[in-house]
Amino acid sequence: MRVVLGVPDLFLPKAWRCEGLAKIEFLNVTKTRSIDGEMRSVLDDVSVAVEEGTILAIGGPSGAGKSTMLRLANRLESATSGRVLLDGVDISTIDPVRLRRKVGMVFQLPSLFPLTIQENLTYGPELRGVEPSSLHDKVREMLDMVDLPDLSPGRQAGELSVGQQQRVAIARTLMNEPEVLLMDEPTSALDPATAKSILELVCDIRSRYGITVLFVSHSLEHSRLVGDRFLLIVDGKVVEESDIEAFFRGPQTELGRKFLAGELK
Ligand SMILES: Nc1ncnc2c1ncn2[C@@H]1O[C@H](COP(=O)(O)OP(=O)(O)OP(=O)(O)O)[C@@H](O)[C@H]1O
Ligand SMILES: [Mg+2]
Repeated sequence: MRVVLGVPDLFLPKAWRCEGLAKIEFLNVTKTRSIDGEMRSVLDDVSVAVEEGTILAIGGPSGAGKSTMLRLANRLESATSGRVLLDGVDISTIDPVRLRRKVGMVFQLPSLFPLTIQENLTYGPELRGVEPSSLHDKVREMLDMVDLPDLSPGRQAGELSVGQQQRVAIARTLMNEPEVLLMDEPTSALDPATAKSILELVCDIRSRYGITVLFVSHSLEHSRLVGDRFLLIVDGKVVEESDIEAFFRGPQTELGRKFLAGELK
């Protein structure tokens, strides 16, 4: 689709260029915080564009600003300067509740409500006025999707193992049919086998629904298994952004090489 006929692409603002439009984009994003009474940039002029259906693995030392990036992407926090765009639209203009349905978040530790699995899954849709009885098939579909086909939706969420809770938390997020999934160390509280199965699940979700995923992890192995692209942040700055295999074969920067060698604290 071309919005203005006769005007070369070059002269159209990016938001009007539909081909190649990023699903989510950080444009010169800076976030400053008061830390120990001193204002510090925890994100410094971060620009990165993520194409639709891409899994962007985000790595970097502790305190680099990875979680802050995710929190800016669904307005849990706002940028000090710069913009975050969803489909070319500045998210500061989107109602936060509506935005968080489109941009779902999964945390390190599953944070389910002390309710049944069914109630956890229908909570979001019910808030938007969807009749719970109409959600039965959707709940089943989502439990199948997260590989919990035998789980009774009437069970209390608190009875489940942490790995099962993480799957239910992902299913609950998927009930909102998000277009972007923010995952902040979703595998770090899990044993290796369960963690691998969650990584497979992330890939399945992307394949089935075409969701764009921002996946933060301290595990290089997990990032490589799941990611299409890799973003390395150090001290709030983008150091590398590349195809994931290209990064693992040969980082372009000294910091990238140090990170891969485990030498960055
Ligand atoms: N609520 C807060 N108030 C003040 N400073 C904060 C807050 N949250 C994070 N920070 C600081 O912002 C910086 C970036 O933190 P962030 O949580 O984004 O790092 P991270 O890369 O996710 O680290 P980790 O890998 O340890 O989770 C750090 O210096 C941190 O101490
Ligand atoms: Mg973090």
